[in-house]
Amino acid sequence: MQFPRTFLIISSGLLLCSSFTYGQKASPPAPVAMTPTPTPAPAPAPAPEYVNITYFLSVAGPFQTFLNYLESTKLIDTFQNQANNTEVGITIFVPKDSSFKGLKKPSLSNLTNDQLESLILFHALPKYYALADFNELSTKSPVSTLAGGQYTLNFTDDSGTVHLDSGWSRTKVSSAVHSTDPVAIYQVDKVLLPEAIFGSDIPPMPAPVPAPVISPAADAPSADSKEGSASSKSLPSSSSSTRLVGLSLSTWSHLVLAISGGLVLLF
Ligand SMILES: *[C@@H]1O[C@H](CO)[C@@H](O)[C@H](O)[C@H]1NC(C)=O
Ligand SMILES: *[C@@H]1O[C@H](CO)[C@@H](O)[C@H](O)[C@H]1NC(C)=O
Ligand SMILES: *[C@@H]1O[C@H](CO)[C@@H](O)[C@H](O)[C@H]1NC(C)=O
Ligand SMILES: *[C@@H]1O[C@H](CO)[C@@H](O)[C@H](O)[C@H]1NC(C)=O
Repeated sequence: MQFPRTFLIISSGLLLCSSFTYGQKASPPAPVAMTPTPTPAPAPAPAPEYVNITYFLSVAGPFQTFLNYLESTKLIDTFQNQANNTEVGITIFVPKDSSFKGLKKPSLSNLTNDQLESLILFHALPKYYALADFNELSTKSPVSTLAGGQYTLNFTDDSGTVHLDSGWSRTKVSSAVHSTDPVAIYQVDKVLLPEAIFGSDIPPMPAPVPAPVISPAADAPSADSKEGSASSKSLPSSSSSTRLVGLSLSTWSHLVLAISGGLVLLF
């Protein structure tokens, strides 16, 4: 009787062990820690605050058309001077080259020099505004631009997305090129056409621009969510099949052990 009892103890020990190990294997894989890439905290602004607007516009974008207008009108000095004035600063809304190309009607080529200057100045506010400031600024519409006078913009903050309305152009901030007091440079999706130049007639229907160029930042979430849902669909199925294999293996071993244990008891 001594031998079968030992065997029984050993086999039930094995049974316990196997159910323990298989139980562990069968349990869904521990969730991989998805540590989001830490967004680097904005470095404390160094003492010399000089922000070279020409440099920022030439490396980001492409904003070459807007930069060319700034240089041909010499307004780059006005903008840079405002940027150098750290007491107030500047906020610039810059359309990409493609936005100027998409501007079929009205055309900028018919504008007088004064009108062109006003239109360029219309793309800036004589003060630094962080994106978070636009919620409050929206309550102060209409807001004066660097062009002064009746050259005003209306802002609305739609849960973090800043919308601009010039009467003629309704657009939004699609990305922040630079935003550190005293200089903010935001990319906008359209050229801002002031009502003061183009009149308060019926704004034209947005010209059918071939394939609107969306900034990568704005494009990313939709592409991600598509891929994300696809992978999240395929992932559980593969893990559940592993679980199935694990389960059947453990059931099988339990069966074998139980049978051998029963046989031992019979003897
Ligand atoms: C600003 O940047 C432009 C383009 O990189 C450069 O040509 C110019 O010399 C810079 N200006 C100053 C004052 O550093
Ligand atoms: C802005 O400041 C920079 C650096 O101090 C200087 O080189 C540049 O001439 C200034 N530009 C204007 C338009 O004030
Ligand atoms: C621009 O001016 C030209 C000549 O004066 C005229 O033929 C054309 O229709 C104008 N274009 C627009 C968009 O006003
Ligand atoms: C801007 O806001 C003011 C005040 O709410 C409003 O009277 C004006 O019509 C608005 N202008 C545009 C172009 O939406």
